[in-house]
Amino acid sequence: MNFESAKSQLTKVLVTEEQIQTRVAELAAEIDKKYAGKEVLLVGVLKGAVMFMADLSRALNIPTSMDWMALSSYGSGTVSSGVIRIRKDLDAEIHGKHVIIVEDIIDSGLTLSWLQATLTSRGAASVEVVAFLRKPAAAKVEVPVWLVGYDIPNEFVVGYGLDYNENYRTLNCVAVLDPKVYS
Ligand code: IMP
Ligand code: MG
Repeated sequence: MNFESAKSQLTKVLVTEEQIQTRVAELAAEIDKKYAGKEVLLVGVLKGAVMFMADLSRALNIPTSMDWMALSSYGSGTVSSGVIRIRKDLDAEIHGKHVIIVEDIIDSGLTLSWLQATLTSRGAASVEVVAFLRKPAAAKVEVPVWLVGYDIPNEFVVGYGLDYNENYRTLNCVAVLDPKVYS
């Protein structure tokens, strides 16, 4: 689905395609600086982080490898359940590795604090979090997020990997989903 065909189900564009690319380049520069001379394992959270991972990883100059986890916390609704299940675990051991968790969006922060604790307990040399979007609720919980692309209002958004019932992931921008779609 592209923007034209989704337009009538969106109320506004929050982050344009151009803004995404600009910010991704800035985030990559920060990562290159901090990890100069090191090798990093990028851990993406499926499926939402796929687009961000693809852009961020290609913007980096340092050597990286990639692994993926699939977690579920939402089911098909729009409110976090707080229950996290591993649906797909990492393929390889992360002991001694510098890990960067690449996330699409932080809302309650429940997914992230659980994931960070889990990867730290597996003996990673370091675990940092880079999230493309962050909602206001995330400020209330103790989630040590290193880098954030954009802080956005507390609205349900889709595009750039983010879905509602598996739709809208392929939009090239981040947009607010019209509540009439899910109410
Ligand atoms: P948290 O555990 O509440 O921080 O939820 C994080 C996960 O919920 C993200 O990785 C997304 O998959 C999903 N999520 C949170 N907010 C949105 C949204 O506005 N649109 C689409 N997915 C969302
Ligand atoms: Mg998700």
